[in-house]
Amino acid sequence: MTRVGDGVGNGVGEVLLDESAIRAEVGRLALQISADYADKSLHLVGVLKGAAVFLADLLRALTVPATLDFISIVPYGQVTTSGVVRIRKDLDEPIEGKDVLVVEGICASGLSLSYLLRNSQTRRPASLRTCAFVVKRRERPTDVTLHYFGREIPDVFVVGYGLDAQEQYRNLPYVARLA
Ligand code: IMP
Ligand code: MG
Repeated sequence: MTRVGDGVGNGVGEVLLDESAIRAEVGRLALQISADYADKSLHLVGVLKGAAVFLADLLRALTVPATLDFISIVPYGQVTTSGVVRIRKDLDEPIEGKDVLVVEGICASGLSLSYLLRNSQTRRPASLRTCAFVVKRRERPTDVTLHYFGREIPDVFVVGYGLDAQEQYRNLPYVARLA
């Protein structure tokens, strides 16, 4: 399914994950997560803004009770390449004693997730895991553990399904390379 030139998708290239592939991945992840947290109540922490669309789908596909919070960080790339990250919008609620799943739209270098893990751990959650819908196939300088992930993609810049290029293309219902 290609939609190059259809208006919304103007400027995008090859589609890496179309709507049906996305639906299948979300369903598979939700099944796995629901099974792993069967006797628990899940506290999802979405990383703004890229995770918003995936999180909305994942949340509705889960069969365990789930609560929701969001965090926003200033990408390290805009400040430094050292992996130092600044929190732009912090969580609304404490996560102490909660079973926390940090949800990212995409994992590239892993620096963001790695920072979020270290930061979250200091807040003493009962458990802490990570989920990213799309993972780039590349070397990661950090030792971030991805407990759940959807699809591995080549190390290219992608947009759609919540992922942006300068705030554009988040509303594309598929994940595509930027042309
Ligand atoms: P990290 O390199 O794993 O820390 O990813 C940092 C952030 O960069 C992600 O959460 C995204 O917001 C953004 N990002 C990385 N790769 C892409 C991409 O291909 N498209 C859109 N955003 C990306
Ligand atoms: Mg971005």
